[in-house]
Amino acid sequence: MYVCICNGITEKDIYKAVQRGISSLEKLSEVTEISNHCGCCTDFACKVLQEAMASNSCQK
Ligand code: FES
Repeated sequence: MYVCICNGITEKDIYKAVQRGISSLEKLSEVTEISNHCGCCTDFACKVLQEAMASNSCQK
C-alpha cells in the first residue's frame, strides 16, 4: 500500500528503511523524501514508522 503518493513510498519501503537503521520521521524523510511535498502523508507515515520500529525490535 502506498503511504506517500507524491514520492511513491510504500509501507514496505518504510519497513526496509527501519531495518537499515532509520528511527525517526525526520531521517526517513531525508532518505526517501516522504512528507516533503504536500505533507498529506505525514500522520500515516508516522504511524507506519512506529509499527515498523515495534516490529523490528521483536526480530532477532
Ligand atoms: S503524499 Fe507524501 S508528500 Fe504528498
